[in-house]
Amino acid sequence: MALTLPAHPDPDTDRLHDSGLLTELAHGLGGPFHYLLPDRFDTNLAAFQAALADAGVEGRVYYAKKANKAGVFIDRCAAAGAGVDVASLGELREALGHGVRGEDLVVTGPAKAEALLRIAAQQGALIAVDALDELDRVLNLDLPRPPRVLLRVHPPTQPNSRFGLGEADLDEAMRDCAEAGDRVRTEGFGFHLSGYDVRQRADLAGELVDLCLKARVLGLRADRISIGGGFAVDYVPADAWRQFLDRQHPGDYHAGKQFTVGDFYPYHSPVAGAEALRAILAARPARSGPTLAERLRRAAVMLLLEPGRALLDRAGASVFTVQGVKDRDGYGIVTVDGTSLSLSEQWFDSEYLPDPRLLPVRTGLPHDSAPYRASIAGASCLDSDFLTWRKIVFPRRPQGGDLLVYPNTAGYQMDSNESPFHELPLPPKVVIDHPEAAARPRWRLAL
Ligand SMILES: Cc1ncc(COP(=O)(O)O)c(C=O)c1O
Repeated sequence: MALTLPAHPDPDTDRLHDSGLLTELAHGLGGPFHYLLPDRFDTNLAAFQAALADAGVEGRVYYAKKANKAGVFIDRCAAAGAGVDVASLGELREALGHGVRGEDLVVTGPAKAEALLRIAAQQGALIAVDALDELDRVLNLDLPRPPRVLLRVHPPTQPNSRFGLGEADLDEAMRDCAEAGDRVRTEGFGFHLSGYDVRQRADLAGELVDLCLKARVLGLRADRISIGGGFAVDYVPADAWRQFLDRQHPGDYHAGKQFTVGDFYPYHSPVAGAEALRAILAARPARSGPTLAERLRRAAVMLLLEPGRALLDRAGASVFTVQGVKDRDGYGIVTVDGTSLSLSEQWFDSEYLPDPRLLPVRTGLPHDSAPYRASIAGASCLDSDFLTWRKIVFPRRPQGGDLLVYPNTAGYQMDSNESPFHELPLPPKVVIDHPEAAARPRWRLAL
C-alpha cells in the first residue's frame, strides 16, 4: 500500500489554492516561488508570549532569523516587541534595517567574525559567547560601553556537540568575567540543544538557573538564561506518521533510495510550538522540586528563547510548475521548475516529507483518471537532484503546467540553503497578508 503524508488540513490555504491566484503568479513570475503568510507568524509569536505570561515568567522571544531569509518576519518582530537571534553580520544588518533595536538582538553562532562581535557590542546586542578565545576577544573590544554577554554552556546530554563551554572552560569564563569587572555585563547563560526533547531542555534550564545563583556570588549580573530554539513543528497527523515509520521501505523511493529513518525530521509531534514551551515551564528539572517556572520566578531569572521553525509554522509554502512527466515501470518522474536546493532537507541526506498538493492546470478529473505515483525531480543536470525521492500518490497523472505546492515550507525548507545553480534565479517570495479576508487575496513581493 502506498504511503501518504498529507499535511494537517488548512482551509485558508485550500481556499487560496483554489482561488486561481497561484497559477497567475506562476505565470507572472515565470518560475517557482514561495508565498508567505506573516499573519500566521504573528499568531505563533503571540502563542509563545502567552505561554510565558500564563506561567507568570518574565521572558523574551528572539526569532531565529536563519530559518527564513524574508525581512517581513523581522518587521513583525519589531512590531510585536520580540527580539531576533542573528548568527552573521548579514543577518544582524537585516534585523537592524527592518527596525529591530540592537538591544533586542541576540548574536549566536560559534567563533564569530571580528566585525560581527564589534558591531554587535556597539549596538548593545546580547552576545552568546561560545568559547574562551571568543570571550577573550569580546573582553578586548575596548568600546565606550561594556559588551553584554551570555555564556553558552556545552550540553552534557549531547557530548558530541561542538557548541558551548565545557565545565572547566565555563568556570574559567566566569572567573574572567568577574575579573573584567565593569568591562563586561555578564547577563547569564544559554544553550541550544539539537532535537526537540522537552525534558532535556527543562533539566538543563534548571541547571542554568543554579549557575546564575553561583555567578551572582562572584559579582556577575546573571539574571537571564536562554534555552535556544528547537520547539517542534507538527506537520502531519499521528496515524499517517506512525504508518509511514512502520511501513516505509526502499521500494517507496525512486531508485530504491534508502534514508535512515532516524534522520527524518519528526514530522508528527504531539507537543509542539508554544505548547512545548508550556511543557518545559511546567516540568520539574531533574524530576524533583519546584517547576522550572517557579524556579525562574524565585531566582528572578528571565527566560530567553530562540525559536525559528516553530514561529514559521504554516507561515508559507513553495510553488513549483510541472515541466514534464516521464513514465517508469509502475511510477513516474515529475520534473518541476525548481531544484532540490529549494527544499533544504536533501542537504542533510534526508527528505521533506509532507505531501505536495497537485493543482491541475485544467480543472476537473478526466474520465480515465487514476491515482498515479511519482517522484519529484529538479530541473538540473544532476541525477541526484530530487525534491522528493518518495513516490507521491497523486489523484491523477500530473501534466506540464500543473502546479505542485509543498506545504508549510517557511521554516528552513524555503531558502536557507538554495543556490542559483545553472543560473536559475532563486525563487522570489510573495507576501499574502490576509489569505482568508477576500475571495481574491492581494499579494506583494517580499523584501
Ligand atoms: C543557537 C540557535 N538558536 C536557535 C536556533 C533555532 O532552532 P529552531 O529553528 O529549531 O527553533 C538554532 C538552530 O540551529 C540555533 O543554533
